[in-house]
Amino acid sequence: MPFRPRYTGLIDKYRDRLPVRDDTRVISLGEGNTPLIRLNHVPGDIGCAIDLYVKYEGLNPTGSFKDRGMTMAVTKAVEEGSRAVICASTGNTSASAAAYAARAGIRAFVLIPEGKIALGKLAQAMMHGAVVLQIRGNFDAGMRLVKEVAAEAPVTIVNSINPFRLQGQKTAAFEIIEELECAPDYHCLPVGNAGNISAHWLGYREYYEHGIVNSRPVMVGYQASGAAPFLRGAMVDHPETVATAIRIGHPQSWDKAWTAQKESGGWFDECSDEEILAAQRLLAGREGIFCEPASATSVAGALRDARAGRIPAGSKVVCTLTGHGLKDPDIAIAQCGDRVTTVPAELEAVRGAILDRLE
Ligand code: F0G
Repeated sequence: MPFRPRYTGLIDKYRDRLPVRDDTRVISLGEGNTPLIRLNHVPGDIGCAIDLYVKYEGLNPTGSFKDRGMTMAVTKAVEEGSRAVICASTGNTSASAAAYAARAGIRAFVLIPEGKIALGKLAQAMMHGAVVLQIRGNFDAGMRLVKEVAAEAPVTIVNSINPFRLQGQKTAAFEIIEELECAPDYHCLPVGNAGNISAHWLGYREYYEHGIVNSRPVMVGYQASGAAPFLRGAMVDHPETVATAIRIGHPQSWDKAWTAQKESGGWFDECSDEEILAAQRLLAGREGIFCEPASATSVAGALRDARAGRIPAGSKVVCTLTGHGLKDPDIAIAQCGDRVTTVPAELEAVRGAILDRLE
């Protein structure tokens, strides 16, 4: 029988395009190889004729795209003899760092903004045994502290300022090209620290420069209105948004993301918290795809720009859904509190409740 080899993660798959040696010990949880799902209902629902796909990165091992970068960052940290990794995080990086450190048998230190990370992410960092330091400050303050402490202590930074992170994350662009058998016309992402949009641009450029495709997408970055330094053209000191994953005012990959925008002919724009949550509900309710609020920013922005004609009808558009909806149960439940009906444990009541809702 024609069995295919077991999928063992993106370093094994893209070994010849990543900075690893033949004898490198790979720290992997089988990340990558996530589904690219065509949206069947949403574009029509809101009256725009684009061919819209979502890259469901929430299906990575720890529920976000960070795993693509973390497998590389932790693999290289171990190769270099490091015994500990450290990051500042709005939640997903800390969950991923904690998991890959556990897998490698090294320590993880994570700095998170007190009270501003989603419950699932906190649970992950704790369960994987990271040393969790809640700071009375935001992500940007955490990032500054991590850089300062890593200059003195023997710990490897695994935020996206670590170049190996972007190398791992560029593989998402490879996968998209391989599935579509071409580059999309537009690629839309939520932007926080701006590592992921920069990493995708690296990947698209690489396949283009190596002659694997003959075009590259226009890169479009969407930020939450309260945390939109790229749109404002300047850092934001007090970022605020319901999408806590992208509650960042001082993005570390500032220059790289501007390069992606300029070279690709793309743009940055903002989405309000209401638009972000509406897109999250639309994906969950109309397509069966549950992503966290930050992720829905890409779809909220793409739909708006498609309706306005800035993304022309007929375009092939990919939106990255960066994290799984289960990461943030509080925001999900707060949006649909009235969808649970309590009834007595009796046939009459259950039958009545069902028949009422069937036409
Ligand atoms: N979406 C989600 C779900 C994220 O967790 C992040 C970043 C982004 C989008 C933005 O990606 O930073 O590469 O522009 N989360 C980081 C963290 C900051 O700490 O988990 P970016």
